[in-house]
Amino acid sequence: MHIVMIGTGYVGLVSGSCFSDFGHRVTCVDKDQSKIDALLNGEIPIFEPGLDELVAKNVEAGRLSFTMNLSEALDDADAVFIAVGTPSRRGDGHADLSYVYAAAKEMAPLLRDGVVVVDKSTVPVGTGDEVERIIGEEAPGLKFSVASNPEFLREGAAIDDFKRPDRVVIGVNDDHAEEVLQAIYRPLTRNDAPLIAMSRRGAELTKYAGNAFLATKIGFINEIADLCERVGADVNDVAKGIGLDTRIGNRFLQPGPGYGGSCFPKDTLALLKTGQDFEAPLRIVESVVTSNDNRKRSMGRKVINAMGGGEQHGKTVGVLGLTFKANTDDMRDSPAISIVQTLQDAGITVRAYDPEGMEQAKKVIDNVTYCEDPYAALDGADAAVIVTEWDTFRALDLDRVKSLLKTPLLVDLRNLYSRKDVEEHGFTYVAVGR
Ligand code: UDX
Repeated sequence: MHIVMIGTGYVGLVSGSCFSDFGHRVTCVDKDQSKIDALLNGEIPIFEPGLDELVAKNVEAGRLSFTMNLSEALDDADAVFIAVGTPSRRGDGHADLSYVYAAAKEMAPLLRDGVVVVDKSTVPVGTGDEVERIIGEEAPGLKFSVASNPEFLREGAAIDDFKRPDRVVIGVNDDHAEEVLQAIYRPLTRNDAPLIAMSRRGAELTKYAGNAFLATKIGFINEIADLCERVGADVNDVAKGIGLDTRIGNRFLQPGPGYGGSCFPKDTLALLKTGQDFEAPLRIVESVVTSNDNRKRSMGRKVINAMGGGEQHGKTVGVLGLTFKANTDDMRDSPAISIVQTLQDAGITVRAYDPEGMEQAKKVIDNVTYCEDPYAALDGADAAVIVTEWDTFRALDLDRVKSLLKTPLLVDLRNLYSRKDVEEHGFTYVAVGR
């Protein structure tokens, strides 16, 4: 089996290297010379635990290669995965499909009969139809199939998610495409991972519905956390109490500063647009999006209120964690952006530390003093705020933190600490929903 992966971004690179690790021959193609050069030199352009070893191992074994030469790569391809970006279009929130369609157009004349073109990028319902139309138009007479195969990878756990999936979803409108995708995923299905075959439109919608449902779970528990604070209950108890009902499930019930990242914000917006286009408005998802947007700024106000409220000119806050979650350097739609902005709007000076995200953070957050470790970020601050659940923040030396802070106030937006422990060290402790 020869697989070609178009796009060496996050999804393309993880999927390509995992497919090659299954024993398939994989060629990854990208238009970005600097990315390909880096990969040829063994440098991985993204931060994902374990990916560098996986790439090196499979390159060494001769199963994984990188090139800018599309026609050479496609020469004997059995399956071509499209894994290019689908950012939110500026202005209307629709997914921008120009990269997907450009890839389809460019590859069409280079494909051979029997090839299966697979959309792995997250694309709205009907995109597969358009890809099929474009290829048919550009390569008249070619025998080909177009399939959908959404990914469900979490950043920071992507390799594990790929190799031990809850399920593999394939959207196919013909038997040949199903056979080829079944063969590609056989190393997984042999190990009992369920592969669910459905229509192409069904698969396209499954991806969005899945992410929107997870976003809804998070939005729900965040609002319940706020209610817990008002009524004097502990959200951890409530989450556990409902999560043990197997119909609900205990995962994705962790309250926090709101969801961010490259998927949930963008995919929920795109799903809302699809709902509008097809006159089936998704009011629940609409509320989740609004609730999450409001939450990010309200977490900034929570810090300000803990400091006494109102304007806080001359005060300093030490922010621990900037990325949208731990184990990534990704700052896309991170709650930290709105939180820092809200603090700065109230006249507060911000010092910050993040183990991996500071380079990316510098591109999106201005006027912050970036520090070399958590303690430096807290030095002289009036409050410490945990925004991201990095492991290094779970066992801070609280005595040292207290001696560095002007006021012993810890706002823990990820509920990493027990109230008792922190209060015993003489802090005022503010958590989420407890
Ligand atoms: C997500 C999906 O999990 C994945 O299947 C999809 O393909 C891409 O989008 P990712 O964005 O990498 O993956 O991160 P995830 O671990 O799902 O977290 C998303 C956001 O939700 C983060 O901001 C995280 O902090 C937040 N979150 C998650 C919570 O606030 N509470 C939770 O219980 C879980």
